[in-house]
Amino acid sequence: MHRKRILLIVGGGIAAYKSLDLVRRLKERGARVRAILTKAGAEFVTPLSLSVLCEEKAFTDLFDLKDEAEIGHIRLSRDADLVVVAPATADLLAKMAHGLAGDLATAVLLATDKPVLVAPAMNVRMWEHAATKRNVVRLKEDGIYFVGPGEGEMACGEYGPGRMAEPAEIVEAVAGLLVGGAENLRVLSRTALGPSLRGKRVIVTSGPTHEPVDPVRYLANRSSGKQGHALARAAATLGAEVTLVTGPVSLEDPAGVSVVKVETAEQMLAAALAALPADIAICAAAVADWRAAEEAGQKIKKRESGTTLKLARNPDILATLSALGANRPQLVIGFAAETENVVANAVAKRTAKGADWIVANDVRPETGIMGGDRTKVQLVTASGVEDWPAMSKDEMAERLLSRASEAILKLRPAAE
Ligand SMILES: Cc1cc2nc3c(=O)[nH]c(=O)nc-3n(C[C@H](O)[C@H](O)[C@H](O)COP(=O)(O)O)c2cc1C
Repeated sequence: MHRKRILLIVGGGIAAYKSLDLVRRLKERGARVRAILTKAGAEFVTPLSLSVLCEEKAFTDLFDLKDEAEIGHIRLSRDADLVVVAPATADLLAKMAHGLAGDLATAVLLATDKPVLVAPAMNVRMWEHAATKRNVVRLKEDGIYFVGPGEGEMACGEYGPGRMAEPAEIVEAVAGLLVGGAENLRVLSRTALGPSLRGKRVIVTSGPTHEPVDPVRYLANRSSGKQGHALARAAATLGAEVTLVTGPVSLEDPAGVSVVKVETAEQMLAAALAALPADIAICAAAVADWRAAEEAGQKIKKRESGTTLKLARNPDILATLSALGANRPQLVIGFAAETENVVANAVAKRTAKGADWIVANDVRPETGIMGGDRTKVQLVTASGVEDWPAMSKDEMAERLLSRASEAILKLRPAAE
């Protein structure tokens, strides 16, 4: 979320004190945070505390002429990539659901065309009241994103749902909503509405492998790891516990994911097996099919006549995970990077490897897919081949994980 602009609206709930920690955490992740306090919010935290943490004046008044002249409620929303309401009081939810705009916070919320994420916080009776329930349904229909509330002991001494999501959880939801460049803001998942992988374990392999030839040389391929890392990110955003086993890449570790770094195919297989059991395994790594049959102990010397390199087959991670028996993940997904007969090869690969789904992509250099930010895939399942339109790797990851979450629900409907 580096350099993303977040407009934080702090409502008048007891959880408002947590908004200070939220600002700190968002800023630690590189976001720029601007804050609006409702009149009631200012009873719980001072504009000064928020201003100091945001390193910018916290806004409070719709009719502060100076602000209206210089910045205005329209500009406040226009300048943001994402609006976050935390805590979102019952009152704010009601006003948002009915399109009221009687103060700065609600005027901004009505004026914005940016994604809005709310973190409700209220007494359990307020949360369970029919009016709040109606408002929440209406807001979800309007495309508002929700994070929380959680269940637990409340400041008022009661127990139940209504506790604001912890700041770390809100930051993850924000990260999930902000994917791509500033000009290319995308909404990743409707956390509270759409597919969920909460409670599920997902293993993703990503990147190339490096197979040593001698102490200074290795065999490798052009995989960047962008697709695998996007898949791990998308799975984590849907609430899964994710292990990402990655070969050498120059990408940041996705947030909220446990990352195991390996070099060779054999290490990747061992790490994937060690991460079991899992509900879903996604083999997106471009695993080298071969390694040097013997790694030379010393740098191989140049000879005029050239050198013959003897290669040995590497283990097949996708086939191994697909054939695990009782320990087999419910859904095993492989990738087929092909340069010819893409679909036919992917269909054959699905059967040969025993995988459930194969994502086929055409990696001829002219497609720009290998190493690029966009992709164009066909999804091969037992029911046939689906041709997906060109999209970013993040979008593809979101779509695939959303399909995967539906599929595993169908695979095990009533058992959970
Ligand atoms: C001590 C105290 C704690 C409150 N805590 C909450 C709360 O957690 N959630 C909530 O929805 N309202 C809470 N309220 C009520 C709101 O402050 C009140 O509805 C207010 O009008 C909300 O204004 P706002 O939505 O513009 O911020 C609390 C009120 C008081 C006095």
